[in-house]
Amino acid sequence: MKKLEIRNLHVNVEDKEILKGVDLTVNENEVHALMGPNGNGKSTLLAAIMGNPKYTVTEGTITYDGKDVLAMPVNERSIAGLFLAMQYPQEIPGVTNSDFLRAAMNVRSETPVSLFRFIKAMESTISELQMKEDLAHRFLNEGFSGGEKKRNEIVQMKMLKPSLSMLDEIDSGLDVDAIRIVGDAINSLREETGMSIIVVSHYERFLELIKPQFTHVLVDGRIITSGGPELAQKIDSEGYDWIYREFDVLPAAEAQSTKRQVTSIGTCAVRESVNQKGAK
Ligand SMILES: Nc1ncnc2c1ncn2[C@@H]1O[C@H](COP(=O)(O)OP(=O)(O)OP(=O)(O)O)[C@@H](O)[C@H]1O
Ligand SMILES: [Mg+2]
Repeated sequence: MKKLEIRNLHVNVEDKEILKGVDLTVNENEVHALMGPNGNGKSTLLAAIMGNPKYTVTEGTITYDGKDVLAMPVNERSIAGLFLAMQYPQEIPGVTNSDFLRAAMNVRSETPVSLFRFIKAMESTISELQMKEDLAHRFLNEGFSGGEKKRNEIVQMKMLKPSLSMLDEIDSGLDVDAIRIVGDAINSLREETGMSIIVVSHYERFLELIKPQFTHVLVDGRIITSGGPELAQKIDSEGYDWIYREFDVLPAAEAQSTKRQVTSIGTCAVRESVNQKGAK
């Protein structure tokens, strides 16, 4: 059984600790929603799982299907079945969508994918996502609209058929019709392959389409609480304030400014006592 296991994960970005001990287990065929306020580490967690070199793992472990993910370069993680649909997909001028996808598919199979089969699969995926027919021949994401970039991430997912898909705000930038098209495409691949999913979204509307069985809330680099779909619904209607109160936590930005205040109070106190001594 292909299981993702994350234990005590600490991740730094530019020497600043963003993740402060994350534990998460995703079994085969499970869908997990990852929620949390802006800037608290959701994308950082997915980037660290996928192996983005900007994100340094300082402590902890990630295993997938029993293998040490942290020991693998990004391409091996991808071949092992991990896939990341990025919050901000990159433009890669000079590489066409079809060249990129065919190369990625070929490294996954022992014999090269036949051109005929590849074109058929690409055409049907492009039409399923209701994208323009010239998509295959355009440079990867270059000049794509925000929504087209997001749909193109799902084209890649459908073609590569990963066993664990991480979808980072795939719904942001999509119009109402596109949200349904993308949701259906994700669900049909899930039915076909049994892939598991970690979905980051701020919107209950999209989560209702994907139907995660589990919800996790990431605040200031830690998963503060987990539950079922009802947790996502409660966040959608009530926001995060009740979580800060109930679990006695602060979102990353406020936690930092509180820390700064404590330091400045301490400095003043030290200065004051030195001054008093000097005065005696
Ligand atoms: N490549 C980077 N360079 C510098 N800082 C970064 C980088 N990636 C993340 N950070 C910082 O790490 C913190 C967590 O960012 P992250 O993108 O993981 O948040 P998030 O939970 O995904 O937020 P959002 O809901 O806005 O997407 C933020 O303060 C962010 O500025
Ligand atoms: Mg993010």
